[in-house]
Amino acid sequence: MAAVELGTGLYHVGSRDWNRRQFDALISIPHGTTYNSYIIKGKEKTAMVDTVAPEFEKEFGEKVERIIGIEAIDYLVMNHAEPDHAGAIPYIIGRNKKARLLTTKKGAKMAATFYHVPEERIDVVTEDTTIDLGGRTLRFIDAPFLHWPETMFTYLVEDRVLFPCDFFGAHTAFGLYDDDVEDTIYHAKKYFGEIMMPFRPMAKRALAKVKELGVEMIAPGHGPVYRNCSRILEAYTRWCEGKTKNKATIVYVTMWHSTERMVNAFVDTLQQGGVEVALYNLADSDVGDVAADLVDSAAIVIGTPVVLGGMHPLAMYAAYLVKALRPPVKHCAILSSYGWGGGAIKQATEMLAPLKLNVVGTVEINGPPTKEDMEEVEATAKALAENIKEGLQQV
Ligand code: FEO
Repeated sequence: MAAVELGTGLYHVGSRDWNRRQFDALISIPHGTTYNSYIIKGKEKTAMVDTVAPEFEKEFGEKVERIIGIEAIDYLVMNHAEPDHAGAIPYIIGRNKKARLLTTKKGAKMAATFYHVPEERIDVVTEDTTIDLGGRTLRFIDAPFLHWPETMFTYLVEDRVLFPCDFFGAHTAFGLYDDDVEDTIYHAKKYFGEIMMPFRPMAKRALAKVKELGVEMIAPGHGPVYRNCSRILEAYTRWCEGKTKNKATIVYVTMWHSTERMVNAFVDTLQQGGVEVALYNLADSDVGDVAADLVDSAAIVIGTPVVLGGMHPLAMYAAYLVKALRPPVKHCAILSSYGWGGGAIKQATEMLAPLKLNVVGTVEINGPPTKEDMEEVEATAKALAENIKEGLQQV
């Protein structure tokens, strides 16, 4: 695939991984992804911002050669050390004897550990560093833990182009620009839920810095390039601040339909109470979609049967993910059914305890739900709807 000129002397030289269907051995990516790398030509110097995953290094190298010889690159910026962006650094460094690797202090250590970049070829940059390419200036924005400790953003000052690597990223191989892809913001939301949501305080700080720049283009490490920046900046503002909607995400597992009957009644009651519901049967759901819905849900509801004295393993996995992703949910409810011994409610409550949620109610039933059981389920759902609404009014 050919490089694309995004502006005069500014090229997208990344790779499109159309066929990849999973990331981090965890998240499904039905539309593939991209590993975006950029070349910036100044009057005197040339910089490359990030590289690609190592399996694409050959086609990447050929693409770069068609624009400018690899040996002509003066600066190789490493915004982030993860291999999907930095994996082709050895390929470039091995074919270029002069380029300086620009990265943060923590990035320098990682470049040496992961990619064996010699110490004498690495320059540590900070927010005070400026790199003059000849009529074009690179600046660097400290943005740690987005989502590794070494992460930073690069800014092309005169062109007002931001290169934030994973921040503002989206897993889709489709489209070059944000407006080429109808569901860009959904892909970005899913990405935010999986990757950035656990680091919301850092994301909020970095976003404030970005807003001061007056960016005209955002060129991330995955997915489309934003030439309409306001939509993604507005979305990130809501997501970073943890602005929740009148919405509950419900995840459940069912074996003999008792838990499912409870969940269905719960959903009906919430919807009658005006609450938006995102419902996932964990036996056949993409946890990436669950993560996307958690970005703006005020409540999480877990439904699980009891298996061998505890939660069903799929429900346990979901509870673990909820805890790890640290969504802005404020309320929860837990529903469980058992055949001959309980225990799931206690376990789920303990797993979610670090999130300090308002546990609106728990319902544990033995066998198929009775009329009284269903009344308890509906009463819990009603209480959750009221709690969500009250919470929204207080904001
Ligand atoms: Fe896309 Fe954290 O790498």
